[in-house]
This record gives sequence, C-alpha cells and structure tokens, in this order.
Amino acid sequence: MKEVDMTLIRIDETRCKKDGLCVQECPAGIIKQADRESVPLMIPRGAQACLLCGHCVAVCPHDALHHETIPMERSPKIAEDLAISQAQAAQFLRTRRSIRRFKNKPVDRETVQFLIDHARYAPTGGNSQLVTWTVHMGTEKLKNISDLTIAWMKAALASEAGSALPPYFPMIVAAYDAGINSITQNAPCLVIASAPGKYDNGMVDLSIALSYFELMATAGGLGTCWLGLIARALKHSKPLMAAIGLPEGHSHFYPMVLGYPKFKYHRLPERKPAKIFWK
Ligand SMILES: Cc1cc2nc3c(=O)[nH]c(=O)nc-3n(C[C@H](O)[C@H](O)[C@H](O)COP(=O)(O)O)c2cc1C
Repeated sequence: MKEVDMTLIRIDETRCKKDGLCVQECPAGIIKQADRESVPLMIPRGAQACLLCGHCVAVCPHDALHHETIPMERSPKIAEDLAISQAQAAQFLRTRRSIRRFKNKPVDRETVQFLIDHARYAPTGGNSQLVTWTVHMGTEKLKNISDLTIAWMKAALASEAGSALPPYFPMIVAAYDAGINSITQNAPCLVIASAPGKYDNGMVDLSIALSYFELMATAGGLGTCWLGLIARALKHSKPLMAAIGLPEGHSHFYPMVLGYPKFKYHRLPERKPAKIFWK
C-alpha cells in the first residue's frame, strides 16, 4: 500500500479519490488539499489541533483515511439495516419514563458496563471525554446512601434554612421513617456521572451522557431515575460525599438509579407545548 505518512493521519493513495470530503469535514481544519488532483495532507503540527473526533474516518466513503487514535477496525461501518425511522425514534423517546418502582432483581455488572460503554459515545465539549462513572451495586449500599441523604434532609429541615426548603421535604422524610424509600426507590444500582470541576462543560457533558445511559437502559428493558435529592444533598453532606466516593476534584456530578421496572406503561403521557421564540 503506497501511503503518504503524516503520522497521526495517513492517506492510502491507492484508495483516495481526492474528493476532498475529509478536508471539508475536519472541524479543526487540519487537513488540506493543494488542488483537486492532489491527495489531502495533514498540515504541519496538525496533530496538536486534532480533536480526535474521527469525522475524517467516518466521512471517507473509500476507507482511504487512517487515523492513529481512531483505528478503522474499531470504527465499524454504519449498518443501514439497523437505521430506525423517525416514527420509531419518536415513540422510543416518549417511551422513556422515570422509574420509581423496581423489581426485586439485581442488575449485573456486565449490564451496567454495557450501558456506560454506549453512554461514552455522547457528545462532549471539544471531544474532551472527561465524564467518569462511579457505580454502587446492591440495595444495602443504596440503603446507606438513602440513610445519609435523609440524615442531611432532617438536619436541613431543623436548621434556620429549613423554611426555604421545598415543601415536599418533610413528606419524604416522614415517608422514609415509615418505610417508603423515595430517595433511591429501592433500586439495585446507583450510578453517578461526574466530571472535573475545572472543566467548564462538565455538567452539560455528564447530563448528555446520563441521557444516553437511560435511553440505552430503556431499549434494554431497564429503567432509570435522575436523583435530584441526592444531587442536592451531595453538595452539603460530607458523610454522603464520602460514602459516594467521587474522584478527586469532580465537583460536577449527577446521580441516577438503575433497575428493572416493576410496571409496564401503556400510554405516552402528554407534556406542555414547547416554548419557542422564532427570531
Ligand atoms: C434533573 C432531574 C432530577 C430529578 N430528580 C428526581 C428525584 O430526585 N426523584 C424522583 O423521583 N424523580 C426525579 N426526577 C424525575 C422527574 O420527576 C421526571 O423526569 C418528570 O416527572 C417527568 O417524568 P418522566 O421522566 O417519566 O417523563 C428528576 C428528573 C430530572 C431531569
């Protein structure tokens, strides 16, 4: 194979049709083509600006572009027969529910790994891919996390700031004391997506990743629920933060429970109309 070696990006000249697609597609503008008769080349020091997004590999119809960190063998061809219609996508997106009643059935590690392995394809600012996952498995561990959240809620209610807390706080605490866990909903698994505090887009990136996670969970017959209560408690409770054990400096985070839904849904509930300002 005759190749123009550019270290990070190599073009197979025997395959390249010089259509310039990689040149037009590259978001960093590091691939250039002298004219329509020339094979594209990576510009000098282009590697430093490369986002490692793999768009150049994905857009080439001729398998001519090799990227050192986005190998072709790990960048599979898009299977046209797996494409879904917009009608299928519309129903699927509306099918996702916040699950608060779970079967008494554990989720295995491979299943969680599978969901995270797909959530990592969510977009990230500058393709930074800094989202990290902390996973707690088993109802006992989750009960401890619920206990610590309730302990913080009780302390917050008893404090001067208690009157400024949401009106449902006392109800959740009373229900918990009566044996109803509205914190982790008796789910068998808790995941916390987090990102370094110094990274500006951390909260956005991890939120999108969690959305991918829960959509993949839905597709696999599992259910999830975002946990605003734990997210809030985590900002204040050191014992809870210690029990969760996030990586050092990860001040962007959000928790989500995962398990097998107890109930099946038969309708797609309506939501408010979209608020749009056309300009
Ligand atoms: C950021 C966020 C935080 C949430 N926190 C909680 C929570 O602490 N407890 C809970 O039961 N549901 C929580 N939810 C679920 C919402 O109540 C739910 O999304 C909403 O009622 C719509 O229902 P659906 O998700 O089934 O469409 C949260 C959702 C989001 C997006």
